[in-house]
This record gives sequence, structure tokens and C-alpha cells, in this order.
Amino acid sequence: MGVGKAWSFSLAPANLAQQQNGTGNKQHHQQQRIPWSVVCGLMLFTLGLVSLFTGHVASDLDWYSYRFSTSRFNLHNRIRREAIDIWKSKYSELLYGCSERGRSFAPAVREQSSNGYLLIAASGGLNQERTGITDAVVVARILNATLVVPELDHHSYWKDDSDFAKIFDVDWFISYLAKDVTVVKRVPDKAMRSMEKPPYTIRVPRKSPPEYYLDQVLPILLRRRVVQLTKFDYRLANDLDEELQKLRCRVNYHALRFTRPIHEIGQTIVMKMRTMAGRFIAVHLRFEPDMLAFSGCYYGGGEKEKFELGEIRKRWETLPDLSAEDERARGKCPLTPYEVGLMLRGLGFANDTYLYVASGEIYGGEETLQPLRELFPNFYTKEMLAGKELKKFLPFSSRLAAIDYIVCDESDVFVTNNNGNMARILAGRRRYAGHKRTIRPNAKRLTPLFIAREKMGWKEFSRKVKSVQRGFMGEPDEMKAGRGEYHEYPASCICEKPFRNNDAREQQLPIL
Ligand SMILES: *[C@@H]1O[C@H](CO)[C@@H](O)[C@H](O)[C@H]1NC(C)=O
Ligand SMILES: *[C@@H]1O[C@H](CO)[C@@H](O)[C@H](O)[C@H]1NC(C)=O
Repeated sequence: MGVGKAWSFSLAPANLAQQQNGTGNKQHHQQQRIPWSVVCGLMLFTLGLVSLFTGHVASDLDWYSYRFSTSRFNLHNRIRREAIDIWKSKYSELLYGCSERGRSFAPAVREQSSNGYLLIAASGGLNQERTGITDAVVVARILNATLVVPELDHHSYWKDDSDFAKIFDVDWFISYLAKDVTVVKRVPDKAMRSMEKPPYTIRVPRKSPPEYYLDQVLPILLRRRVVQLTKFDYRLANDLDEELQKLRCRVNYHALRFTRPIHEIGQTIVMKMRTMAGRFIAVHLRFEPDMLAFSGCYYGGGEKEKFELGEIRKRWETLPDLSAEDERARGKCPLTPYEVGLMLRGLGFANDTYLYVASGEIYGGEETLQPLRELFPNFYTKEMLAGKELKKFLPFSSRLAAIDYIVCDESDVFVTNNNGNMARILAGRRRYAGHKRTIRPNAKRLTPLFIAREKMGWKEFSRKVKSVQRGFMGEPDEMKAGRGEYHEYPASCICEKPFRNNDAREQQLPIL
């Protein structure tokens, strides 16, 4: 009811007037048969019910201004011109994450009648594994298979051999998905015994469409009863039908919940930040030596840096010879902690803003972080906030990453200097959670400003930073159907709230 895809309005402005009366065409048909007053009454009543029970209520004025501003003619100019509230998108309250199962979505195939058991080895770091697990559920659904709780790959460079149940709440995962896909903890002994050979192992090509699984994997599954898919990350196509996309959101945003110890320490840190500050920014920095070496960038550390990064660079045999200056000018270099700080101050965050800094190893260590600390003296890390409690997590890089994930997810503003898995997955999740402010640096256009920083006054610098960051602030209009990966732009799972009817009488009648 009146709950449409937010961006569909920008794509189909012709529908605007019709969509605005909430229920579209249907209403016009009824009008011919049912008296006018009954229609109005019914509509107000239903809208009332909706706002009572869903809590998805937005004020009419915001709603209208959003509608008009998102029409194709106005969207660009208007959102581009409006001053942005750096802490919170003005339009965030008009949208919400929606991933409910459609009525026609068939119930899960039960274990006994399924086409066999699907074993999955997810690979990579925590967040890459998250995409693998999400897609594993969807693939099991496509194949009518029973999914065995995915294994986390222990052989990748990511030094952590935690299994699924040490990181995610496995019972919750199974029960939350029960209506969609049958998930079991292991292949039953009986099925194991009846297997003549070890499970058939397949590495599926990247981003395979559902047809690939039906044509290539299903026949083997039917024959062998158990199939294992290895190196399972980004192995399923980005574009799927809406119901399967919503299933992805149910897995990614609901079924995957961290275990209690991880959840608790994450919440402890969030509470400590909130007690100090009320609201805070989480900054996710990636500035590891190997990442910098791979980028071919130069950060002003003289011969020492050139030598150190050059040595690491030898690890990859086929890297092209890059000009560090060109790379920087093209916006290919990860922002330094200092540059992230300059951008934030330029955007208007005051020097007393509280920062939670999530990072792994930082090239240059404290020395590299110092300029950011000077810009934002209220600078915190998980080590500072959860020192003792953190001890038992230290040997496990995935669990440490999970703690950062929680704090970054809960922060009022999230900023990254990279485009890695965590940055993209959290950007998508924060859209789903009501478009919480998520800032991605527009490195290509910021870099010339950093280079010329000394040549202009602070006011001018700040104005220019604000201007180049338009479109990179996590505003709803940045998401367009068909743009990017669903992890980052979960378009099928963002809906528009129906609007409040308190004073809808006046607002409604002229439109009807
Ligand atoms: C899966 O089961 C549904 C019925 O629930 C059926 O329509 C569909 O064809 C089955 N697909 C496969 C691949 O077995
Ligand atoms: C923060 O900024 C204010 C002015 O806006 C200034 O007076 C103060 O000294 C600054 N504090 C620090 C720690 O830099």
C-alpha cells in the first residue's frame, strides 16, 4: 500500500501524480462504483492503521518534498543545491529496509524431499565470507537443496581458523531461515555412508547466474546427493529476481548475527562511545603496508618508504610500473588518516567530535595516525575502550573484525578510506537501516584539493570539500536501480514509508 521503490520515482516521473495518492490505479476504479465519501473514509482508515502498526511514519511535508525532489527534473538540482546535514540524511526517515518474504514465495523444501546436500567453503576475510554465506543460502534455494552450515575457509591468507559457530549464532541462522531454506549442521551419517566417493567438489565461475547452477550443479547434486562448492565468494550473479534479492537481505541483515561474546563486547564499546559523546563517527581505515605497496602510491616517507614498499611489491610478479603521482591524481590512492581527517573537518565536523577508529595494521603506526588525532583529539580505538576484555579475541582476526563491524554499523556517521568488502557491505547495510550517514571519499576530486591545501584559505577549502563530496554522502538518491553490487546498493530491499495521515484530510482531498 503506497509502499513503492523510492528511486522508481526518479525513473518514472510520469507516474508521480498517480503514485502520490498512495494506491494508484485501483483507487480510480473503485471511485466509479463506490461513493466518494466511503472511498476517502476507507483510505484514511487504512492509512491510519498503517501508521499505527508499522511505525513507518513520515510527516506529510517531508514526504511531499521528497517526492517532488526525487522526480527526474528536480532531483539533481535540488539535492545538489541543498545544504546537507552532515550527521543525518534529511530523507532517511522516509525510507526503510524491507525484506519480507513475498506471499507467493514457496516454503522451504524439507530435508527429506530436497535434491541433496550443499556444502560450502566460504573464502576470504570476515566480510567476504559474509557475501559467500549470503549467496550460499540463495543457491541452496535455487537448487532446492539442503544447506549444510557453511564452512569458513581456513586456508586463505586471513589468519583465523574460527568456524562458523564461533563467529555467527548458528541456531539463530538456522531458525531464522527455516521458511526459506532448510539448513542443517552436518550431513547425516546415513547420507554419508551411502556415498561411494568423497563429495564432488566444484569451483563455480564468478557471478554465475541461477541457470548455471541449474544446468551444471543440479545434475551432479541429484546424482551424488552431496556437492561441495569451494572458494565460495561472489559466485552468484548480482542481478536476481526481487524475491531472491530480498532473501539475500534476510540472510545478510537478519540471519547472520554475531555470537553473544562478540555482540556483547561490540555493544560495550558502542555504549562507552555514546556515554562520552551522544553521537560519534566511526572511521574505518585501511592503510596496511601490503595494501599501499600494491597500490603503487607514495606517501611522502622518502627513501625509507620507497624501499620498504618496493620490497613488498616484489611479491607480485606482474605488477605494472606505475607513476605514483599519476595514481594519486587519478584518485587511486587510499586516503591517509590525515586526509580523512581534513575531509571530515572540511565537511564541517568540529574538532570536539568523537571518533572511533577501526583499523588493522597502519603503515607507519602511531606516527601516521598522529595528524588525525590532532584534528580530532577525541580519538578512540577498541584497544582503548575494551583493553582487558579484548584479550581473548586477540588471536582471532575475524572476531576482531566483527567487533569493528558492530561499532561501525552502530555509529551515527561511518567513513572509510577504502572500497573494500567491509566498506561496501556496511554502506549497503546502513542504507537498509534507514540511510544512516555513510561518507565515501571522492578521492579523485579531493586529491587536487589536498595537494593545493596550503594555497587556499580554510573557508575556500571547506566549501570545495563540501562540493566535491556531493553524491558521496550516503543520501538515498545515490542509489539507482541497476547501480553497483547489491551488497552495497540493496535496491530491492529499500521501500518508501506510507505517509502519516494526522492531517491528511487537507492533504488528501485535492489530490483525489
Ligand atoms: C524446487 O521446488 C519447487 C516447488 O517447491 C519447484 O517448483 C521447482 O521446480 C523445484 N526446482 C528444482 C530445481 O528442483
Ligand atoms: C577546537 O576549535 C576551537 C575553535 O573552533 C578552538 O578554540 C579550540 O582550541 C580547538 N581545540 C583544539 C583541541 O584544537
